[in-house]
Amino acid sequence: MKKIAIFASGRGSNFSAIAQAVKKGSLKVKLALLVCDNPQAPVLSKARKLKIKTVLVKRGDFDSKKDFEKEITRYLKEEKIDLVIMAGFMRMLTPYFVRAYKNRIINIHPALLPAFKGAHAIKDAFDYGVKVTGVTVHFVDEEMDHGAIILQKEAEIKENDTLVSLEAKIHKVEHLLYPEAIKLLTLGKVKLQGRRVSFRGR
Ligand code: GRF
Repeated sequence: MKKIAIFASGRGSNFSAIAQAVKKGSLKVKLALLVCDNPQAPVLSKARKLKIKTVLVKRGDFDSKKDFEKEITRYLKEEKIDLVIMAGFMRMLTPYFVRAYKNRIINIHPALLPAFKGAHAIKDAFDYGVKVTGVTVHFVDEEMDHGAIILQKEAEIKENDTLVSLEAKIHKVEHLLYPEAIKLLTLGKVKLQGRRVSFRGR
């Protein structure tokens, strides 16, 4: 069974959705590790409650970002992690880390990339007035919100939507799409050629 690590430093609703899919058996992976860099993050207690091994690695404890990532890599190696799942880690990874886990790091972004990159994608899409936005799961490369796209799903913005209702809609889509993407990857169904992702037997 493939072993995954989730990197999260916030609320952790995607972490919970993935953990639930694992518990239900619809996602057959071992959720071996949570990596968090924020001691205040609610995701920490969620992981502890589920008895998932958690490491708190604070950027401030290291002289350089490379040293910070080396420490994280040590934990990943210890646990023999196959796939790194970014779920609201809100920190860019260095080329050193991205190369070490080439095509084995994925991220979820709350918009239809390449539209609305960055940390405020839901609000940016709402303020822009688009009628359709959504969620993207993509490989992580050295540029922000840029790697090859694995799955996308749309969410409509209706006239009576508010930013709050749109956020709820987006998160609902995320919680279904992320476990699905992890499933396809860990079953070896994802084929990557350049920026193109296709699926075997889906
Ligand atoms: C999600 O909206 C995700 O798309 C973005 O960060 C947010 C994390 O939310 N990358 P949560 O901590 O999983 O609730």
